[in-house]
Amino acid sequence: MRALSVATIAPARRVRGRLSVPGDKSISHRYALLAALAEGTSCVQNYAPGADCQSSLACVRALGADVQTTSEGRVTLLGRGIAGWRSPTGPLDAGNSGTTMRLLAGLLAGQSFSATMIGDASLSRRPMRRVIEPLTRMGARIDAVAGHAPLTVHGGPLRAIDHVSTVPSAQVKSAVLLAGLLAEGTTRVTEPTQTRDHTERALPAFGLTVGVDDLTVSVASGQRALPQSLVVPGDFSSAAFWMVAAAALPGSRIEIEDVGLNPTRTGLLDVLKRFGARVEVHETSSSGGEPRGIILVEADRTNHIEIAPDEVPGLIDELPAIAALAAYGGEVSVRGAAELRVKETDRIAALVAGFRALGIDADEREDGFVIRGAGAPAGGVADAQGDHRMAMAFAIAALGARGESRIAGADAVVISYPGFFDTLSRLVA
Ligand code: S3P
Repeated sequence: MRALSVATIAPARRVRGRLSVPGDKSISHRYALLAALAEGTSCVQNYAPGADCQSSLACVRALGADVQTTSEGRVTLLGRGIAGWRSPTGPLDAGNSGTTMRLLAGLLAGQSFSATMIGDASLSRRPMRRVIEPLTRMGARIDAVAGHAPLTVHGGPLRAIDHVSTVPSAQVKSAVLLAGLLAEGTTRVTEPTQTRDHTERALPAFGLTVGVDDLTVSVASGQRALPQSLVVPGDFSSAAFWMVAAAALPGSRIEIEDVGLNPTRTGLLDVLKRFGARVEVHETSSSGGEPRGIILVEADRTNHIEIAPDEVPGLIDELPAIAALAAYGGEVSVRGAAELRVKETDRIAALVAGFRALGIDADEREDGFVIRGAGAPAGGVADAQGDHRMAMAFAIAALGARGESRIAGADAVVISYPGFFDTLSRLVA
């Protein structure tokens, strides 16, 4: 077992400063996969530095792409074309990354070879039937262990399907659409509610045609992806932790530059306003169909917040941060978020355990949680349970405590935000 690092968080009166956050994780994965499908050299700037997106690069490299990276976050990727992927010599390691495994399953389904995808212990517990079932209907053969990784995808000729998804999941939608590029006919995916639409925006950015009709997205086969030069916006989900700290700690003011403003991701902004924060958003530009801009958040009032089920897909990855809003006053109650139980860890159980360990009143619901803040909590030792967003949520919650706190397993932040604790030290200074 690897040694876990512990981060010590001292109480802070407020957070102040201007910053940018690492490149968006969801968008980076899609650009890596689509650049590998294109024939020629793509250049992606501000590629996400976290371990998850490095897993996607390692996988496409093993499938024949030539990938060069620089420390400034520039990735140059020579793709071999939609029919040019080669059989990997060993298993493809998706690490902790559900997006890598599920999206790649779609692209492997239409290849002329078999490949095995493996993941770490957390990823090997996550449900894969949601992609296995539609990809099998398209004609792929996928071996799994009771619906879990390792997945061996035996690629072959695919036929288009109309997939009506019962889970609101952008990963499922994207896996089927990517397989659709390699299938005979037009593939359609209808989702129960709108989820993040990065795939729908990335496909045209790489010269591929996609149809969007309300909640139905379609792609036709026989298309060629074209290499591109793109810039990834800052990750809204990473920025969320600073926005929450700024909204909750009196006297705070945070300005985040170059952050992604895709409307399917920004549900948190409305939550912050309901909580009583002052929020300003300025859209400045866009690349690859993804808007970006500046977000400014200042603390003001502290209201109770209820998150309703229909809001959940637009802020699913921000729910751990939103929980921290209530850490030092106010109440956050969430319903309709059972999907949290199948993320990197069972985020409902892990959040409630960690908040209680910090001295904050918290209760589980089957499909959500309630966090009741009451002045500054005592602080304590919270366990991230191997989940990057738990580590960051507990660190933000601990800022408002009366005493010092410790976050066990703080190194999990490398998954999406390797510099998180350095930035934290700067913003509280
Ligand atoms: C993601 C989709 C969401 C999200 C995950 C990234 C993506 O997962 O929670 O962090 O990049 O498509 P689901 O598709 O499982 O909802």
